[in-house]
Amino acid sequence: AGTLDFANPLAIPPLAESTVSSDGARVFRLTAEAGSSNFHPAGPTPTWGYNGSFLGPTLRARRGEKVRIAVKNTLPDPTTVHWHGMQVPARYDGGAHQVIAPGAEWNPEWTIDQPAATLWYHPHVHGSSEEQMTRGLSGMFILDEDSPTRGLPSEYGVDDIPLILQDRIIANDGSFKLTSNTTAGLLGETMLVNGTVNPYLNVRTEAVRLRILNAATARVFNIGFSDNRMFTVVGTDGGLLPAPVPVEGLVLSPGERAEVVVRFKAGERPVLQSLPQELGMSGDLNIEAGGNDSLDLLQFRATAKLAAAPTMPAGLAAPASFDLEDPARTRVFVLKDMYINGKLMDMSRIDETVDAGAVEIWRVSNTDNLAHNFHVHGAQFRILDFDGVDPQPEFAGWKDTVFLPVRATARLAIKFGPYSDPVMPYMFHCHFIRHADMGMMGQYTTV
Ligand code: C2O
Ligand code: CU
Repeated sequence: AGTLDFANPLAIPPLAESTVSSDGARVFRLTAEAGSSNFHPAGPTPTWGYNGSFLGPTLRARRGEKVRIAVKNTLPDPTTVHWHGMQVPARYDGGAHQVIAPGAEWNPEWTIDQPAATLWYHPHVHGSSEEQMTRGLSGMFILDEDSPTRGLPSEYGVDDIPLILQDRIIANDGSFKLTSNTTAGLLGETMLVNGTVNPYLNVRTEAVRLRILNAATARVFNIGFSDNRMFTVVGTDGGLLPAPVPVEGLVLSPGERAEVVVRFKAGERPVLQSLPQELGMSGDLNIEAGGNDSLDLLQFRATAKLAAAPTMPAGLAAPASFDLEDPARTRVFVLKDMYINGKLMDMSRIDETVDAGAVEIWRVSNTDNLAHNFHVHGAQFRILDFDGVDPQPEFAGWKDTVFLPVRATARLAIKFGPYSDPVMPYMFHCHFIRHADMGMMGQYTTV
């Protein structure tokens, strides 16, 4: 940390335009395309993006809305678009089976039926997800509240700021390195926030909400500030927390999101950083995922006069709780040597069959000497415990991805979606994307 001069204004991904079709669906258009971006003095970087050359627009919808997304693939390679965190029918999930050939279009549609949250979208082609995400394919998908929670900043790009965190290795000719350099995957020393290197953000309000997405393929970020200030976690992967939780640091592994609120005083210039993880939290055994690096991410520049912010509400959302049926079905998953339960991904094998709408307990253990995490498609879960201990309050809400440091076990209570399809599966996998590409992934159907 401390080496950047924060010369570049932070880019804010544009909000995607939409139209309303005759059947009332909100229609978005995404075109996956090749282009080039300027990250490095050595020259332009060949990149991929949606509706542009890097990343994609922010999609926005609310509960009850029917959305249809016209995805066109103008890339030279097949791709898919997965709606990470979204409850969608399996055939529209955009996992490894919904391949869009070069030149082809795909038109998934579904009705949003889940709480307000910060979700995202990215490719999921089996075997080349790491490469396609590294080239630049990722974007945010915000689900809005029915009526905004008073006291939470909510003006997109003004006091409600998306932060898409990524790391890259940039070669001397300006090109991205596309293949992994560590056992965790690709770990780079160049940080990108919303595709901006070396970024700053002007702050004009006393409180700013940050929607932080770890869109890196392998790096674990331990988010904090250069002056160790406290900030408040208000949401996790799948929605708002029951109550705000003040913290000094927050660990986000690949694929995880957090919504946080930060308060500023006039003229301040704190830097958002990734700091070495404290031992005890997740241990020094996560070094290989970059967890012990010190990195500058973004400088905030509070102006001389800040607009007053309302006080934080004491309560945010209904707790992510539901009755566990007695006895709820429990399944056990062991992550070891890049396998899940001793198996590698086989796209023609269904590993688990779950009743649509069921609540189950999934006990997931990392018995490896490497950090992993665990992401389940098509559903959100609540963490019952880590190694038998209640989760910290900032992990008490809805999640779809859980970090599993070396030798950690998490018990998840998963509420499966209502859609049934005996043939088309959803995926579950490690979101260190290189591991998933190597086969650390399985498939379940809901029937
Ligand atoms: Cu973020 Cu299976 O994906
Ligand atoms: Cu892994």
